Amino acid sequence: MFVYYGRLVGGNISVRYLILSDIHANITAFNTVLDVVRGKWDKAVCLGDLVGYGPDPNEVIERVRELDAVTIRGNHDKAVTGLTNPEEFNPVAHAAVLWTRERIQPGNLEYLEKLPKGPVRASTFSIVHGAVYDEDEYVFGPEQAADGLLGAPTPVVFFGHTHIQGGFTLRGHDVATLQTRPAFPNESTTIKLARGMAYLLNPGSIGQPRDGDTRAAFAIADLENDSVEFWRVPYDVQDVQKRMTEAGLPEPLILRLSFGR
Ligand SMILES: [Fe+2]
Repeated sequence: MFVYYGRLVGGNISVRYLILSDIHANITAFNTVLDVVRGKWDKAVCLGDLVGYGPDPNEVIERVRELDAVTIRGNHDKAVTGLTNPEEFNPVAHAAVLWTRERIQPGNLEYLEKLPKGPVRASTFSIVHGAVYDEDEYVFGPEQAADGLLGAPTPVVFFGHTHIQGGFTLRGHDVATLQTRPAFPNESTTIKLARGMAYLLNPGSIGQPRDGDTRAAFAIADLENDSVEFWRVPYDVQDVQKRMTEAGLPEPLILRLSFGR
């Protein structure tokens, strides 16, 4: 069967990719995002960490599966499946992994176990969870971004793991930091990509932002038109906090959603 994605814009076929990362079992944030962007995207990708921290691991996995998103694994997905030892996590993250293991449905656990490791190519760009060379490494600054930018499999790579919306560019040998976060109350800001440059871009985290902005973060990429939109969408933080309390998840994980840290 031939599956067609995309839309005709000015004589060119354009495919708008919804770029999701670090949903972390927060179905309240995820559902709000999907409602806001309904009709605005053609194909979805997910950069890992579907589970961990939040109260809704099964609901989030099932929604990602429904979207038929090109998905790779994150470090929390690996810890829940036992691919890595969760004792290497901090105590609250470890507790959330054990909580998730007790509640995850067998079919959803099997789905997580089969998720590939990045980098995975999706159309003209690539996706990784952490760094290009190490799925578990955090890329916080331009020095850490340089190796990935120089050795990237495609000119544009999307990464997650830090939960910080933003990115890095490479022109020649110069690496620079991109400011991408839409200022409140704007919901999105668009960057135009230049040919001949390399980009390492982080859509931010849907379920547990850590850049001081409590709004759910994600991106929409339209690379045929050299544009990437960075989005922030407010959601009902108290609703998910209430369910986390009822579920007995650790208090620091509940409180941090109020601060986006
Ligand atoms: Fe994460």
